[in-house]
Amino acid sequence: MKKTLLLILILLSLQSCNNADAYMVFSEVPDLTMPDNGLRFKEIENYKNYKIVATHFVTDNSELRYILANKKAFIALSKEQPFPEGSILVNIAWSVKNMSTFKEALEADEIQQIDYSIKDSKQFSQNPGNWGYASFEKRNGNYQSSTGGTARCIACHNNAKETDFKFTTYQKMQ
Ligand code: HEC
Repeated sequence: MKKTLLLILILLSLQSCNNADAYMVFSEVPDLTMPDNGLRFKEIENYKNYKIVATHFVTDNSELRYILANKKAFIALSKEQPFPEGSILVNIAWSVKNMSTFKEALEADEIQQIDYSIKDSKQFSQNPGNWGYASFEKRNGNYQSSTGGTARCIACHNNAKETDFKFTTYQKMQ
């Protein structure tokens, strides 16, 4: 009797592990490296498990942006605290299209690029806020490292100096 109970308990706990695994999504990101600073796409391999902290619509190129944060960046943003070492923010840029089921609404269509920034005071001690930048563009279904270099990222993000070079503020979902 005891043995049966034990077996049931083991099976139940295995089942809950399986459910947890199904919830965690690991993406097979390509092994790409930024030519000018060595940051890899693999650095954000589990970005699908990051939390969405904001969405933006950029009017000059009609792109929808999902901003996601890893745990460290999420805690900092949501509590309005400084970003600690290891914070990562991801920006997924989507083209948009009219929804086929409801023409008056736009929906995310295809990913154009995935950008991220990481706070790393060792590797990026020279960069403002110690942020390193990476950008992977999607063309015909395949990603490639952006060849434009990351100096332009740093230059434009300098406009957000007051907020540690990040434009995003946390959009409370309540
Ligand atoms: C011309 C200005 C400009 C340039 C160049 C630029 N960004 Fe941004 N970036 C923005 C603005 C504005 C936002 C907020 C709007 C949005 O979501 O795109 C942003 C948002 C981001 C975010 C989300 C976190 C945050 O800072 O708000 C990341 C990550 C990011 N950019 C990475 C990059 C990378 C990597 C590059 C270089 C390849 C880059 N950016 C180049 C203006 C710029």
